[in-house]
Amino acid sequence: MATALIVLAAGKGSRMNSDLPKVLHPIGAAPLLVHALDAGGTLDPDRTVVVTGHGAEAVERTAARFDDRIVTVRQDAQLGTAHAVAQARPALDGFDGDAVVLYGDTPFIEPATLEAMKAARADHDIVVLGFEAADPGRYGRLVMEGDSLQAIVEYKDADAATRALTLCNSGVICADAKTLFSLIEAVGNDNASGEYYLTDIVGLARARGLSAGVVTCAEAETLGINTRAELAAAEAAFQARKRARAIEDGVILPAPETVIFAQDTHVGADTLVEPYVVFAPGVTVESGATIRAFSHLEGCHVSRDAVVGPYARLRPGATLSEGAKVGNFVEVKNATLGAGAKVNHLSYVGDAEVGAAANLGAGTVTCNYDGYFKHKTTIGAGAFIGSSTMLVAPVSVGDGAVTASGSVVTMDVPPGDLAMGRARQTNKTGLGARLMGRLKALKSKGIN
Ligand code: UD1
Ligand code: CA
Repeated sequence: MATALIVLAAGKGSRMNSDLPKVLHPIGAAPLLVHALDAGGTLDPDRTVVVTGHGAEAVERTAARFDDRIVTVRQDAQLGTAHAVAQARPALDGFDGDAVVLYGDTPFIEPATLEAMKAARADHDIVVLGFEAADPGRYGRLVMEGDSLQAIVEYKDADAATRALTLCNSGVICADAKTLFSLIEAVGNDNASGEYYLTDIVGLARARGLSAGVVTCAEAETLGINTRAELAAAEAAFQARKRARAIEDGVILPAPETVIFAQDTHVGADTLVEPYVVFAPGVTVESGATIRAFSHLEGCHVSRDAVVGPYARLRPGATLSEGAKVGNFVEVKNATLGAGAKVNHLSYVGDAEVGAAANLGAGTVTCNYDGYFKHKTTIGAGAFIGSSTMLVAPVSVGDGAVTASGSVVTMDVPPGDLAMGRARQTNKTGLGARLMGRLKALKSKGIN
């Protein structure tokens, strides 16, 4: 059976107090919408339609970046969840199969839950995802008769007896697409909010002799984000889960609560991640690597047995081959370090290719930027870059070549050569002691 995803993402999220549309606020450095699309992706949908409204252009860009096959439709006025789903109808013209409605601000729905809903479609025309709420608050209430869902009643429209129900509506709904749209056509807005409620389709379906059922999940999965405080709580929950999963997968995390993950972080088994490491988006670390304390990684790849930090920064495009070492106060950007290459102290390596087993001494800097353009530095295998060498790009240092400490290298260095690019030293016999003696005498007379 084909599946279409309809993701509702038109809401403003006024309570976020933000110019950013609600669904673009991040958890694990990825927009809420991306979490929802990821969750829906487990159903392997044939079509995905995102309904946009507030901040439509930015939301559309995020959807396209996630998957350029996603269709977006605009809901210019937010007249309710049924009205939002109705906007997806033209985009799904001719589609034959199930439609699954998700909210863009509900990031934590588990794959197994969506699969259970698909499976439950064998027994029901409409399947609603429900949960037992610890505090049912203003959620829509699910009115059951045995295993059969009779209606969903919105809090505002519920009487005291219905408000006392604790089984609540998550908002996720699965139904045959044609049935869904035909029911939505019949939804009116004569209710306490004056909105077109998607939830009304259940009562309408029952009146047509169709059946509705409920699949339940843990309340944590249905957590929706409405405020900054909820976003912060959701971030904490996300981090806790990501850490627990990393530990389960074999990552060594001596102080898990201090390590920050991104949604897409991947760390291999037997890799040690020391305290206070931050993973920004786009990081993969292979097995058996070591990420030492206080390092910041983004958009980079760290291979097996490589060592990073402490206090290292890997920026986008940094690739460390097996056994490479990046030590304290070293920044690497858009650069590949060959196997076993070492940059151990106080260095900047940007727009560079560094050969296997090359050694970059303390204070090596690739001068990659002239104010307008970026230029490349190439360092050959086994090269030895003396401490405090300035490599003025574009420049290359050949295999096995050496640069003298303090050199400013502006010309290519052939393989095996020694480059010395600094003033020659001269020693003045006894002058150091004489100079100091004079200064000492001046100071003792109170002269400065
Ligand atoms: C909705 C459900 C309620 C459920 C709750 C779970 C309805 C009528 N009510 O209530 O039963 O318990 O979710 O969180 O469906 N949206 C649009 N366009 C609109 C209206 C909403 O895109 O015109 C989007 C919002 O951006 C949001 C989602 O739909 O992502 C839910 O809308 P919201 O207004 O938050 O619904 P609730 O009142 O919370
Ligand atoms: Ca809501």
